[in-house]
Amino acid sequence: MRSDFQERVEKAVKSIRTKTQAKPKVGLILGSGLSGISDQLDGIEIPYSDIDGFPEPTVAGHKGILKIGEETVTLAGRFHFYEGWTMDEVVLPTALLHGLGVETLIVTNAAGAVNKAFAPGNIVLLKDHINLMGTNPLIGPNDAKMGPRFPDMTYPYDRELRDMVKRIAPSLLSKPEDLKEGVYAAFTGPSYETPAEIKMCRIIGADMVGMSTVPEVITANRLGMKVIGISCATNMAAGILDQPLNHEEVVETGRKVQNDMVKLIMGIVQELNI
Ligand code: 6GU
Repeated sequence: MRSDFQERVEKAVKSIRTKTQAKPKVGLILGSGLSGISDQLDGIEIPYSDIDGFPEPTVAGHKGILKIGEETVTLAGRFHFYEGWTMDEVVLPTALLHGLGVETLIVTNAAGAVNKAFAPGNIVLLKDHINLMGTNPLIGPNDAKMGPRFPDMTYPYDRELRDMVKRIAPSLLSKPEDLKEGVYAAFTGPSYETPAEIKMCRIIGADMVGMSTVPEVITANRLGMKVIGISCATNMAAGILDQPLNHEEVVETGRKVQNDMVKLIMGIVQELNI
């Protein structure tokens, strides 16, 4: 993080505070094709372009809208490292949520399945991750206000919250067996992995592979937020099936699973606000 990061966060918080005093305890960061979830949540919508210090996302299908209500604040539209954003820009939304008072962060993404027992359409509750991005969002001068210099990452995804999700999921999903649990490995992208890279992922213990989420989760842990991570398996990773990957398939499967994702996330939000 650069030394002006905290200043940028405070600026962003301030511009939200000119529009609402809401202090939701639950924050959501939605992945590609999953932005429909925010339609189900109450709140006022603020385009990223109206948030000081926020860049505007570019990739099709990534809306740049913050929606904030009494119970939840949702960010639809991520800043991906592969788009050329700096790590500060990638994790600015996470720090903004913390600045607004969020205590529990739910991050979702579309990802490829490395585990051969998984299938496209599965919903994977993250239990851990492997950072293969070759960098870390916390690199830079240390600002003690933002948390410890060497944050503990023993419980990156809160254990009690994972138990809660597993408890409520069966009654919410159309096929309860579609819920899996696994480890997410993050590459920078934007090229998908080679079959050899996916074989490596399997050997080192990854079940899913993607291009996001890990920077946000590292930052959230440093800021003391509890994290729930949910991946939607949109496709099998390279080399598992004898066929190429394409982005349209990824988006299409994301759309199909959206209903179940909405139900699960609405259930989680309800549970967190009891
Ligand atoms: Cl196979 N890899 C990565 N890095 N991201 C993905 C993916 C694969 N499928 C969806 N997103």
